[in-house]
Amino acid sequence: MKVVKEISEVREFTKQDREKTVGFVPTMGYLHQGHLALLEQAREENDIVVLSIFVNPTQFGPDEDYEDYPRDLERDLELARSAGVDLVFTPKADKMYSDNAATKVEVTGLTGKLCGASRDGHFSGVCTVVSKLFNIVNPTRAYFGQKDYQQVLVIKRMVEDLNFDLDIVTVPIVREEDGLAISSRNKYLNQAERKAALVLFESLQRGKELIVGGERKAKVIEQELISNIEAEPLAEIDYVAVVDASSLKDIDKIRGEVLLALAVYIGETRLIDNLIVEV
Ligand code: PAJ
Repeated sequence: MKVVKEISEVREFTKQDREKTVGFVPTMGYLHQGHLALLEQAREENDIVVLSIFVNPTQFGPDEDYEDYPRDLERDLELARSAGVDLVFTPKADKMYSDNAATKVEVTGLTGKLCGASRDGHFSGVCTVVSKLFNIVNPTRAYFGQKDYQQVLVIKRMVEDLNFDLDIVTVPIVREEDGLAISSRNKYLNQAERKAALVLFESLQRGKELIVGGERKAKVIEQELISNIEAEPLAEIDYVAVVDASSLKDIDKIRGEVLLALAVYIGETRLIDNLIVEV
């Protein structure tokens, strides 16, 4: 496994053999089972696997956890090696963004909702860095987790709109045994908060049960999610959404593919989770 910091080194590596397929997994590091599921699928489907580890400053708001975001490169490299990664790209922020940089990639519409509504500029930061990484790595396929459902939707929109020549592959959410979606930010939770964090998945499941049981009013499902979360004293809702899974638009009636999505503060830690229900 090769580990490189420079953009030119990535280009050299992936240009070695143009016939080979390249599977790319962009991450912010502090790797866990969720990231490993992406790497595993990339390994199965491509000749070369490239992993990027870059805590991208432009996707964090001024009051968010950029400085405190967990980092452990040594451990990440060990995990990457055992996952069969061929190339790890760990750029420095000043090499990714020059002082003169003046270009942003902005997807409109989809980004005004859910996480985009509460994290101003977040998706512009994500789209800008992901575009740059796609141009640097030039992958055949790039792998994203359903954990960040809106992120995948926005990236797919961007790839189509800007004619990037690659496939976006979505990988299902990897969960702890008790259902908590695995996230680098789970590390912030103390014991009581870790227990309280279960309310996200349990509420989503409760919503799904109601739909499976025949409830078709989106407002009723949304209210059920809200009451479930409000019953947990350590939880505070950022948003609860019951929306069309492809447009993220509000709906009255549950029909087709519906996304149940949540962002909830457990203490100081903001967690997200989601579930797709098809009727
Ligand atoms: P990061 O949070 O490190 O996540 C990297 C990838 O891992 C994302 O595609 C995310 O959806 C996926 N992932 C995280 N937890 C997962 C889980 N429990 N199950 C399945 N997949 C999971 O997302 C980012 O980084 C950044 O925004 C990035 C795309 C790298 C741009 O900076």
